[in-house]
Amino acid sequence: MCSAGPGRGRVCPHQGAFLLDNVLRRWLQPPQKILQGFVEFGDTVIDLGCGPGFFTIPLARLVGPRGTVVAVDLQAPMLDRVRRKAGRHDLADRIRCHRCSSDRIGLNVAADFILAWYMVHETPRPAAYFREVRTLMKSDGRLMVVEPKMHVTRSAFTALEDAADTAGLIRLAPFGGLASRGMILSRD
Ligand SMILES: C[S@@+](CC[C@H](N)C(=O)[O-])C[C@H]1O[C@@H](n2cnc3c(N)ncnc32)[C@H](O)[C@@H]1O
Repeated sequence: MCSAGPGRGRVCPHQGAFLLDNVLRRWLQPPQKILQGFVEFGDTVIDLGCGPGFFTIPLARLVGPRGTVVAVDLQAPMLDRVRRKAGRHDLADRIRCHRCSSDRIGLNVAADFILAWYMVHETPRPAAYFREVRTLMKSDGRLMVVEPKMHVTRSAFTALEDAADTAGLIRLAPFGGLASRGMILSRD
């Protein structure tokens, strides 16, 4: 998907954003279909490592006019793309962009749903990252973590599962597909 970002702590460069939002990916990973069972009208959602907004825009449609999506990324050009798309799709009123640093999200939000798609392996310390993510979840909130098999081996994903356990998250179910390994988690 983004071939420039393998390995722990290596960030997928914004110059490769076109690889993350295109017709082929929409066919392989239809965002609305993937997310619709997890998000309701009026929800507060965080899209961690949102990149160019492949999931941000469908999430904004799913939360409706009373909901909010906070799009979080450490690269300003990725957030610029999200802002432009939000404007084009007339969804700017429900999408908030937040620039974070690599090891601190720095939000004060209680989320119903948090998406971390293809990004946790790019964070320098996943257990610490998950600890902060946990503080952003409502007590009945859900976290979806999905990682690319191309960059995250089975054993590396097991290490992420352990990091989630260490952070106090509860693993509810696996979640995946042909090219991905994932899990759904809760806070309590
Ligand atoms: C492979 S891209 C995935 C983007 C998007 N989630 C998607 O599936 O299209 C990873 C994104 O995570 C961002 N990222 C990497 N480390 C991050 C961190 N510690 N905090 C927030 N964003 C991060 C990168 O800047 C990049 O936009």
